[in-house]
Amino acid sequence: MLDVTNLQKTFGGLVAVKSLSFQVPDNSILGLIGVNGSGKTTVMNCINGIYHASGGSIRFGGTELAGRRPHEVTRLGIGRTFQVPRLFRRLTLIENLLIPVLGTEPTDKALTDKAEALLDEVDLHRIRDNYAEELSGGQQKLVELLRVMMFDPALILLDEPFAGVHPNLCRVFIDQIVKLKERGKSFILVSHDMTSVYRLSDHILVLNQGETIAEGNASDIQNNPAVVEAFLGR
Ligand SMILES: Nc1ncnc2c1ncn2[C@@H]1O[C@H](COP(=O)(O)OP(=O)(O)OP(=O)(O)O)[C@@H](O)[C@H]1O
Ligand SMILES: [Mg+2]
Repeated sequence: MLDVTNLQKTFGGLVAVKSLSFQVPDNSILGLIGVNGSGKTTVMNCINGIYHASGGSIRFGGTELAGRRPHEVTRLGIGRTFQVPRLFRRLTLIENLLIPVLGTEPTDKALTDKAEALLDEVDLHRIRDNYAEELSGGQQKLVELLRVMMFDPALILLDEPFAGVHPNLCRVFIDQIVKLKERGKSFILVSHDMTSVYRLSDHILVLNQGETIAEGNASDIQNNPAVVEAFLGR
């Protein structure tokens, strides 16, 4: 589904991503982990067009994404959430879900029904008319996922969905990820919550200073001395 080859991103003299290659197969979850500043968010920003990659290629279903703008990447079928949620703070929950997609389905009624069903699934329908800024940080992250679902993307990039979120709400979020994967979606999951990454990911990539230092399944990663050293020191 996604094929990243020799991706590079530099900021002046700082090399944030160094010749990184990986793939996300159909209907799979790639876990992306690494210490602070290792380049995880930068990779997501290059994929969805917030940053222009300095080199390499990013192909999605055979289509080159390099040079495309975020709204084009969204239309091609890649949704994302942000490390710090970016909702429209002075719009209501239902408006946050509807505004980006108005005009994409035959009737606004169909879109409203879809938004209401999504809110209902995570027990937020009762506060559909509250302003987004009135939500907790964790609830905002969940609403971002629902907003992504309004587009029904094939690939969803999740940047730290569990950071600072109460375990009960994390469970709701995880249930959504599992359900969406059962419906055929793929994910790139960036998280410092190793338990969730190990549980959810089909394949894990460990970044350090913009490079892959290890990859494999959960047990490969847990037992890899280079990973232990990168996270905990010698
Ligand atoms: N817009 C930017 N301008 C300059 N440097 C940047 C920019 N964005 C990221 N960087 C640098 O790139 C490196 C990677 O940052 P990035 O945000 O991708 O890390 P991360 O792995 O997501 O970290 P964290 O776990 O803290 O979220 C860091 O050194 C960061 O300072
Ligand atoms: Mg980050």
